[in-house]
Order: sequence, then C-alpha cells, then structure tokens
Amino acid sequence: MSHKQEYRIRLVSKEFLNSDTCYLGFECPDIANSAIPGQFVNISAGTVFLKRPFGIASVDKDIGRFYIGVKVVGKGTSEIAGFESGMMVDCLGPLGNGFDLEDYDNVILTGGGTGVFPINFAYETLSAQGRNVVVCEGFRNASQVILNKPSYILTTDCGDTGIKGTVIAGLDTISIDDYGKTLVCCVGPVPMMKAVNAWCADKGIKCLVSMEQRMACGAGICLCCTVKVKDDGPEGYKNVRCCKEGPVFDGGEVVW
Ligand SMILES: Cc1cc2nc3c(=O)[nH]c(=O)nc-3n(C[C@H](O)[C@H](O)[C@H](O)COP(=O)(O)OP(=O)(O)OC[C@H]3O[C@@H](n4cnc5c(N)ncnc54)[C@H](O)[C@@H]3O)c2cc1C
Ligand code: FES
Repeated sequence: MSHKQEYRIRLVSKEFLNSDTCYLGFECPDIANSAIPGQFVNISAGTVFLKRPFGIASVDKDIGRFYIGVKVVGKGTSEIAGFESGMMVDCLGPLGNGFDLEDYDNVILTGGGTGVFPINFAYETLSAQGRNVVVCEGFRNASQVILNKPSYILTTDCGDTGIKGTVIAGLDTISIDDYGKTLVCCVGPVPMMKAVNAWCADKGIKCLVSMEQRMACGAGICLCCTVKVKDDGPEGYKNVRCCKEGPVFDGGEVVW
C-alpha cells in the first residue's frame, strides 16, 4: 500500500458534471502513480478549517494527474467547487486501504451518488487489465446521472431513464456463472450498501463496501470516523477507524 504524504498541488482542470457536482483534475505524479481504487485524498477547502475527503475518481499516470468529483453539500465543498484552474491546493493522500480486486474472475461494481467516483477509478483499472467487469449504477432520476457509460446497467428510482428501481433491480439482471469467483464492490449511501451486502450474502458472493463516515483528521488520530464491525468480544462488535482501517470493509463484517 502506498505511503501517504502532504502535497501542495496545482488544480489543472475543472468541469461541471451537473448543477451541483464538478470534476477536478490535479497535477500530482506521486498520487497518480501510487493510488489504488477505493483510496481517497483530503483536500483543503480554503477558509474551512479541516480538509475534506474525496474518493479518487481517476488517474492518468502518463501526465501525472488524478481526478476527484465534488458534490456541493456545504461550505467546504462549495469553496472547493469554486476553485479556479491554476490555483495551488493542500492535499493529503492517498489515504485508506482501497479495494483488493485480485483473486476474482468477475467483478461487479455498483453504487450511486458520489460513490460513482471511486467506482469509475475501479472500472478504469479493471478494464485496463482486461478483467471481466460489470458496472451497475443507481440514481434518483435522469438529472442526477453522472459518469455513466453506455455499457453500464443504469437504474433510477423514478424510472425516467434506465431500469426503474434501486441498484438491486439492476443487479438482478446480471447472469452470474460462479458466485464463488465473483466479487461485488459497492460505494454509495448506507441504505444502498446495506441492501447490496444483503443481496450478496443471500447468494454467497463476497461484498466489499466503502464507507463514507464524516471525518476530521483523516489520519487515525481523532477517532471521529468510527465504523462498527463484528467482533468475538462480549459486545459483539468493535469500533474501527474508517480513515485508517477503511474506508473499504468486508460488507459481511460491518454492523449495519
Ligand atoms: C472516504 C470518503 C470519500 C468521499 N468521497 C466523496 C467524493 O468522491 N465526492 C464527494 O462529493 N463527496 C465525497 N465524500 C463526502 C465529502 O467528504 C463531504 O460531502 C464533505 O466533506 C462535506 O463537506 P462540507 O464542508 O461541504 O459540508 P459540511 O458543511 O461539513 O456538511 C454539510 C452536510 O453534508 C453532510 N456530510 C458531511 N460529510 C459527510 C459525509 N462524509 N457523508 C455524508 N454526509 C456528509 C453533513 O452532515 C451536512 O448535512 C467522501 C467522504 C468520505 C469519508
Ligand atoms: S478522521 Fe480522525 S480518526 Fe479518522
């Protein structure tokens, strides 16, 4: 796993994907070359005190760039979405453990919301390796659809595009030859990850989820990002740090 470092990096590209979500490219060969899907970076947000975490959405090793997608939900993301190309930004990364994508013949990537950013990085990585990969993404409606490719299975809650329903309706359309050799990776809102994990458990498919707890230090110190995972002790669970031991966890180990 790559070693995290602090960088002062240049924002080199910015485009809006829809009214509240933008896609930012940063020049940083170290992160572009070392990051793996599921890892994240902590980006400083101008006047806001703490850095904000974002899943790495893509890397271009040839030109030493990495990309993140930012949905505006508050002050920090609003300031980051207001950054202008060319400005310098403080960044910590790559952080977290990322997806272990080896050892499976087939990988199903599924998610929604801002989860489509790390899913995009995983898809690009697996495609470049010539691996069998299917992507199933769910959104509220057509206006929310971002980073979607024609080959992906698309679902929307209201059915104004794609299959009507949640990602489970999309996953149900996939024919799977060997459950034991299939891995599902899911990034999205907690109810989505919980439902996908249950779908996988029912079939005996391994499911990895990436939790997006609220974070402060991003470095394992403040303990504000805990996730409950199963444990043999008297309580039946223990708290682990999302930023250090995660953000990727075995869905079967998470106490939902
Ligand atoms: C590992 C990880 C990866 C992430 N990847 C992405 C990404 O790729 N793209 C993206 O747009 N966002 C991502 N997020 C969420 C992003 O970090 C938050 O939206 C951001 O920190 C909010 O900052 P703010 O100052 O704008 O909002 P605040 O003013 O701090 O909060 C505004 C609102 O957003 C809610 N909120 C804040 N943080 C989170 C969170 N982690 N999960 C759910 N709700 C939250 C608050 O409860 C509040 O209602 C990720 C979070 C984590 C932990
Ligand atoms: S954010 Fe501080 S321990 Fe995880």
